[in-house]
Amino acid sequence: MEKIDIIINAKDKKGKINPEIYGNFSEHLGRCIYNGIYVGEESAIPNTRGIRNDVVQAFKNIKLPVLRWPGGCFADEYHWKDGIGEKSARKKMINTNWGGVVEDNSFGTHEFFDLCEQIGCEPYLAGNLGSGTVSELSEWVEYITFDGVSPMAELRRKNGREQPWKLKYLGIGNENWGCGGNMRPEYYADEYRRYQSFCKNFSGNELFKIACGPNSDDWNWTEVMMKNLNRWHTRGISLHYYTVPSGNWEKKGSARDFTDEEYYETISKTLYMETLLTRHGQIMDRYDPNHDIGLIVDEWGCWYDVEDGTNPGFLYQQNTMRDAIVAACNLNIINAHCDRVVMANIAQAVNVLQAVILTEGAGMVLTPTYHVFDLFKDHQGGDSVYCYADGKQAGGKIPMISAGASVKDGVMTVTIANCSVSDDADISVSLSGFDASDVDAQILTAPVRALNDFDCPENVTIQKFNGVSLSDGKLTATLPACSVVKITVK
Ligand code: AHR
Repeated sequence: MEKIDIIINAKDKKGKINPEIYGNFSEHLGRCIYNGIYVGEESAIPNTRGIRNDVVQAFKNIKLPVLRWPGGCFADEYHWKDGIGEKSARKKMINTNWGGVVEDNSFGTHEFFDLCEQIGCEPYLAGNLGSGTVSELSEWVEYITFDGVSPMAELRRKNGREQPWKLKYLGIGNENWGCGGNMRPEYYADEYRRYQSFCKNFSGNELFKIACGPNSDDWNWTEVMMKNLNRWHTRGISLHYYTVPSGNWEKKGSARDFTDEEYYETISKTLYMETLLTRHGQIMDRYDPNHDIGLIVDEWGCWYDVEDGTNPGFLYQQNTMRDAIVAACNLNIINAHCDRVVMANIAQAVNVLQAVILTEGAGMVLTPTYHVFDLFKDHQGGDSVYCYADGKQAGGKIPMISAGASVKDGVMTVTIANCSVSDDADISVSLSGFDASDVDAQILTAPVRALNDFDCPENVTIQKFNGVSLSDGKLTATLPACSVVKITVK
């Protein structure tokens, strides 16, 4: 079999991989928050103050660094004061974006910060610019972060929280080109400037303010943002890109029932992330050559048709090895762009879109995508280094191999996906600038349509992989078709 060369140069550092690149997104959508993350204190499902213990433990295991909340489209119709105080007195509202169901606001600010504290991750709030007011957003920041005497700090104390929380990441609006107000970029940029002016740094807290960025390849949106925003009031600009296999939002394709051709199309569409990061990055470089403003891919992942028999507004889909390959490709691409991309959040955390976790009653399933986050977690905080894989094709459409490497504390982590559904890949990895003496590896592999479900939760799991050899500074291995491998080199 023809060897596929991978070249890694540990001396050629691309930047630090911010742990936040391994973030998740959680919205009041379908069963993400309610029943997924939050079951209420009275539930028979083991919980701590209403938050599922199994889900918290699963997130701790992948070292979840940051969680975005409360939306999504939901964020721009969310009024945070409806979600504080005595639960029985909280307002009930219609969740107009997602199924028109009643939102009882039993999961609000206190519950979200409790969740983040239990997981040990940074909270990332998406503020309401679309239908809210400047004072509403500024008061949210005051409520959360102010230590002194003020109406909002007093209200927080009255609601049982004496000490303020720390809040770093604050998004100001979501998809304001669409569900967040259908704004023109020029108008949004002005609104952003106004809203952010009143979001203050209280009591030593320092906000990292994030503006709504482009939808996919809307280069003009990025251009207008960069022209009008600056590093004194903007630390990040978001980017949303979903992989829709058919490219048709009316009929996106099934999560579990797909042809090989549809699989390759899915991966090909995923690899467009490379173009997006390169070209948005080039636009940003013209205005911000020092990279003071980060790109934040705060919604990414596969978006399929919902599972048969489920509420179309709940966006519930299964997750196969195809999704694992998508996740590996996206994360390798994002790691390689870590000089510009400082955070990414897969959509979404639980029970929605390309979820890392699925729940049903007391049951919990870790999806193949979850296991990719587990395999890749050692990249967090490492230096991304030069990694090139030669371009042998699979399915006549995509490069067979996606690869990335980082070095942290003298240990190299190499992550490789063999994207072929049918062919093993013989790889030869040359390592320069790194003294390798020991190697260890783990693998996630199964047929492309394999998935974990409630009756077979461990169908696809990480296994030890003994197939990697190290000799003369070279790693060689045969990677099974449809696999994701992590190699640890010391
Ligand atoms: O993740 C689902 C939705 O996709 C989000 O609410 C919105 O921001 C995007 O369009």
